[in-house]
Amino acid sequence: MPLANDLASYLADSRKRSLDELFEFLRIPSVSARSEHNADTVRTAEWFAASLRSVGLTATIHSTMGHPIVVGEWRGAPGAQTVLVYGHYDVQPAEPLDLWDSPPFEPTVRDGKLFARGSVDDKGQLFLHVKALQAHLATRKKLPVNVIVLAEGEEEVGSEHLAEFIQANQTLLACDAVVISDSSMFAPGLPSILSSLRGLAYFQIDVVGPSVDLHSGSYGGAVMNPAMALARILATMHDADGHIAITGFYDDVRDWGVAAREAIGKLPFDDNDFRAETGSPSLFGEKGYSTLERVWMRPTCEVNGLLSGYTGEGAKTVLPSKAMAKVSCRLVPDQRPDEIERLMRAHVERVAPPGVTVTVRPLHGGHPWRADLDGPLFDAARRALATAFGRDPVIVGEGGSIPVVDDFQRILKAPVLLMGFGLPGENAHAPNEWMAVENFHRGAEAVAALWDEVARER
Ligand code: BES
Ligand code: ZN
Repeated sequence: MPLANDLASYLADSRKRSLDELFEFLRIPSVSARSEHNADTVRTAEWFAASLRSVGLTATIHSTMGHPIVVGEWRGAPGAQTVLVYGHYDVQPAEPLDLWDSPPFEPTVRDGKLFARGSVDDKGQLFLHVKALQAHLATRKKLPVNVIVLAEGEEEVGSEHLAEFIQANQTLLACDAVVISDSSMFAPGLPSILSSLRGLAYFQIDVVGPSVDLHSGSYGGAVMNPAMALARILATMHDADGHIAITGFYDDVRDWGVAAREAIGKLPFDDNDFRAETGSPSLFGEKGYSTLERVWMRPTCEVNGLLSGYTGEGAKTVLPSKAMAKVSCRLVPDQRPDEIERLMRAHVERVAPPGVTVTVRPLHGGHPWRADLDGPLFDAARRALATAFGRDPVIVGEGGSIPVVDDFQRILKAPVLLMGFGLPGENAHAPNEWMAVENFHRGAEAVAALWDEVARER
């Protein structure tokens, strides 16, 4: 079924203006991880609330101990379903700046790609929902469903205050379905619905030895070197086949089942294309699983950052007094971040060599999630995506995390639909992040169609 004429022509006619407005949204550097940007995250929340109001929703800004939460509402369809749209207006830090081909907060279109920090993750994908709502409200003066829009500014730093906000505002947020666009399509032109997300348990490991850096000639060989100690600790985390060697790590991993693995095997995926996308000389990972299986249905334990000793130009003969690693584990159902923390601490304690003090500090975490893709919401989504992209969607897994998804399902007891409009290679979190301009517009069409389809399911 094609998109309803009124919505289609409204969206087609307003493409230029929509993009201009998105540019404004992207220009505000709402980097949640950096306190020097706190005024910017507030400004972004205000900008987004104003944009919701301008299309006909009411909007309120709720301050938290961290960055503000924006709630928009339109409740003019008594008796109809209520849907909650979630997205995040915060972005990852843009550094290293010299690797960007155009400034991260000055949106630029090249080859149909909109380059800017947050273009795809997640401002572009959040804003296309506003445009879909506007298409309905401008052409028909109403929506076929009641709508709540919930936008947070802390997703990129672990959504620390969102779960308690949802818990405390269950009446305000009560809904029949949650819809999120903060993920990618499997391939260009191939719309996708997510069936799973991995969770996260993120740690900082600090190793401290001597009280100051020491001359490596006068003291080398006499004390334990914290950098070597850390290297030894990290080297115990996997065996040679890429299995994680932390005792008990796999105990709660749910079996994915033959059908799910077969479905993954049928997707159009080429290891070498994927390898080329990464720029790595070859792919590597846990033995016994295909690449997609490793990314979607197996947990990981990875070093995200390392710091120790002298790293400047030339040589300096020094024995570092301390070493630090950022280590994160991606989790799959039914692993829990708190249990993984317990296992990680026990493991590090067991393998830490004598002569240094080692501490493991949890930074943040999130639960993994798997969808039950039956039910009217998903049927509506299949039709809406086919309408906008001219092709039936595929069901895909995802290796990344959106911590709040499990909270929505658990607290609001509503099914969660993840339909994202990013693309492979979009450089999320990296320099030169982009979103395909066409997908921004198609995404708005798909979401506009979705609300009609959801209403039809009733
Ligand atoms: N949009 C991503 C989630 C995602 C990642 C979807 C990869 C599809 C592919 C989200 O903004 C994100 O980056 N999440 C963080 C969560 C973490 C900070 C708790 C992540 O996955 O690292
Ligand atoms: Zn992100």
